[in-house]
Amino acid sequence: MSSDRTPFSPQSASVKEGKPEPVSSKQPIQYWLGPFSEGVIEKPDGLAKITGPCGDSMEISLRVEGNKIIECQFRVDGCAVSRACASMAAALAKGKELEEAWDIDEGQIAVKLKGIPEDHRHCPVLARDTLRQAIEKYIKDRQ
Ligand code: FES
Repeated sequence: MSSDRTPFSPQSASVKEGKPEPVSSKQPIQYWLGPFSEGVIEKPDGLAKITGPCGDSMEISLRVEGNKIIECQFRVDGCAVSRACASMAAALAKGKELEEAWDIDEGQIAVKLKGIPEDHRHCPVLARDTLRQAIEKYIKDRQ
């Protein structure tokens, strides 16, 4: 399934606005410097690892209770920007319903990081895709 399509029904997908929680002005630098939620969840409910076109690899693992992501961790083998993007994606996803977390996109990640260097625009896309694939894996495994 393409990461642009939602695994949720049209009814459930339309219920959520997917707005991230506000992040304080002090937080972005933490995501650049990390680590923040860095690691891998043991026996995760959802797990995805993607290698981007640049060769950087990103892994996101999820713990889900009910329909909510209660824990989200990441590992990155790549640049500082992709690490910051994975960290921000994990922070935005934690505590969200699956449908809300699915709606987190590269624009939201970039805005929360106060901008992304022009030549690293694919980094938040990789974070979005890895998060979505982890959610998708969780949903498929439940079926
Ligand atoms: Fe490749 Fe950032 S440089 S994901």
